[in-house]
Amino acid sequence: MSFKTIIEPFRIKSVEPIHMSTVEQRLAYIQEAHFNPFLLRARQVIIDLLTDSGTSAMSSEQWAGILRGDESYAGAQSWERLEYEIKDLTNYPYILPTHQGRAAERILYGYLGGKGKVFISNTHFDTTRANIEFSGAEAIDIPCREAADHDSDFPFKGNMDVAKLDELIEKRGAVNIGAIILTVTNNTGGGQPVSMANTREVSRVCKKHGVLFIIDCCRVAENAYFIRHREPEFADTSYRNIAQQMFALADGCVMSAKKDALVNIGGFLALKNEELATACTNLLIITEGFTTYGGLSGRDMEAIAIGLREVFEDDYLNYRIKSTAYLGERIRAKGVPVLYPIGGHAVYVDAGLLYPHIPAHEFPGQALVCELYTRGGIRAVEIGTVMFGKYDEAGHTVAAPMELVRLAIPRRVYTQSHIDYVIEVFDEIMKHRNETRGLRIVKEPKFLRHFTAHFERL
Ligand code: F0G
Repeated sequence: MSFKTIIEPFRIKSVEPIHMSTVEQRLAYIQEAHFNPFLLRARQVIIDLLTDSGTSAMSSEQWAGILRGDESYAGAQSWERLEYEIKDLTNYPYILPTHQGRAAERILYGYLGGKGKVFISNTHFDTTRANIEFSGAEAIDIPCREAADHDSDFPFKGNMDVAKLDELIEKRGAVNIGAIILTVTNNTGGGQPVSMANTREVSRVCKKHGVLFIIDCCRVAENAYFIRHREPEFADTSYRNIAQQMFALADGCVMSAKKDALVNIGGFLALKNEELATACTNLLIITEGFTTYGGLSGRDMEAIAIGLREVFEDDYLNYRIKSTAYLGERIRAKGVPVLYPIGGHAVYVDAGLLYPHIPAHEFPGQALVCELYTRGGIRAVEIGTVMFGKYDEAGHTVAAPMELVRLAIPRRVYTQSHIDYVIEVFDEIMKHRNETRGLRIVKEPKFLRHFTAHFERL
């Protein structure tokens, strides 16, 4: 006998109050924040779906680990535990702890990058792209063709276009390739999974050309869920073993532990190649810290070591993926255009389709995040022309390929009634869709402008 209701597979031991607010208050708050939800104060937000990164609730085991943290400068027991867990999971011999994912990216891609180098990915995450471009190198996205159809039920829209990969490496020359980066799940591409079959193909092409293959594995457990349920060969394989098989196909990985290690801060870089690991270790010591803590405290390492195990538990992943789908399926049923099938960590709304009257240079995604905040106190993030748009030589906006808004679900934080509230707010969004207006940028920095840009409503 099994029931339809998926309950949260945990009880709540410690609670944090949510501050309620009115529409009038939120209108004032968003104006003060220059219509950029990144600039809101967290206590002005009711449901925070800005990111699933660093926002997890830790388990009682992890909190116990926090007390056990060994804060020795060198060779701490907490480091031994973390190193053991990462080696057991990845089977890579060289482990470099960093304070978060982008520090690992800066070290690895900064070392491999530079002018003339090319990095190719299913889709680079924004910090990945920024670190590569900051080094002077070029970042090219080659998502699979099926990813462009937002409504089909193709099961692995996170895949890389392998034929294009082969062609590109041929054309650019293998010596000029910094690395091939497979992001699992593909965050920027809609949180969509990558299949094991695709990973094998990418691995084959990389080996053929002798180029480095790196997995951005920050959501590798969520990706393993989809592989087990959508690739028949893996129906009886454990989630952890699926991840292990995936790591075996690559030369290393970069991880932001703030996602699937269920912690609030942390990351690592893990590599097979000794020479590359030595070069990266030098950079680690200069910028992050000694090799046995990197940018982390002992207690952080302890919590990551525990989280890396918990995240592969059947009950946890079942609840995690099904509760994300719960939100996505219900707003889709109301006519909200979403990327389909629903991904692992977030629901992606296609704001370009929701607001066809708002052109890309007036940022339909930013319009939606402002609506979600003022109407419901919900904070979400634009992944469209604000985040990825560029200017051409004449100063005109070059639009991003998609105008998305991401509703990212923090792990183990919100209950079903919180999500039911979000679903209800979408009724209001739909009711007012035709009168919603776009925005213009009044101030922006050169890199990663979405974090700090100021906007005005048109
Ligand atoms: N790679 C991917 C796929 C990510 O999603 C992120 C972060 C990073 C790398 C960088 O890791 O934040 O620890 O430095 N993503 C967060 C997000 C910020 O909201 O999706 P970090």
